[in-house]
Amino acid sequence: MGCGEGMLRLGVNIDHVATVRQARRGVEPDPVAAAVLAELGGADAITVHLREDRRHIQDRDVRLLKQTVQIDLNLELSIAPSVLAVAYEIVPDQATLVPESRQEVTTEGGLDLTAATESLQVAIDRLRQQGTEVSLFLDPDAVQIERAKAIGAQAVELHTGAYATAGAPSDRQLQLTRLEQAAELIQQLGMRLVAGHGLNYHNVFPVASIPGMTELNIGHSIVSRSLAVGMPQAVRQMRLAMSGH
Ligand code: PXP
Repeated sequence: MGCGEGMLRLGVNIDHVATVRQARRGVEPDPVAAAVLAELGGADAITVHLREDRRHIQDRDVRLLKQTVQIDLNLELSIAPSVLAVAYEIVPDQATLVPESRQEVTTEGGLDLTAATESLQVAIDRLRQQGTEVSLFLDPDAVQIERAKAIGAQAVELHTGAYATAGAPSDRQLQLTRLEQAAELIQQLGMRLVAGHGLNYHNVFPVASIPGMTELNIGHSIVSRSLAVGMPQAVRQMRLAMSGH
């Protein structure tokens, strides 16, 4: 997955297509169809979060996506046994390990690796063994990043939520600086640099411009815009925003 300069990849997270479906527990809209349309719009990867409570993406979606998506499939998951079982069964190209609590609306913070467990290590080892690239979702924190390297992460996805929700320009700049410093460390340690969470058409460019960034995972803003302009066009417009247009 080596990426040269100017080849920033876009992973489109389609969880919220499934959120709309689950509002009626029916068959539409189908995230598998949305994935095809995102691919047509120029996505490099499809990202889905299989949550332990299965509130949006279902096991069936992950299985069908694995069979139908031609680009990379990135499965976001916690180390809940019922979720790991699906990752072991379908063998996604990438696995992004995230913390998960049942009460949260969305993933609220990065993993806390200072409390890393034996079960996390077992999951990382087994995913790597089956050929899945292991990425850890972390806050821009040097201690966490060094720990990620120590336990075998091949990539780090930096949590851009604090940057995305920063109000004052000075706070936004501070959060961007934290991301930039963390990005440097990730690369020094030889891990692939990814970022995501809360990125939209207006705030994506500074993050896309961080030196060494290889991939962004973006969901809510693209799915939202797709309601107005359609999924392929929403993906194309995000690509333009990533390159400063
Ligand atoms: N990356 C990770 C690890 C996430 O958990 C999420 C949300 O599911 C995203 C990226 C995408 O965030 P958003 O929907 O805010 O673009």
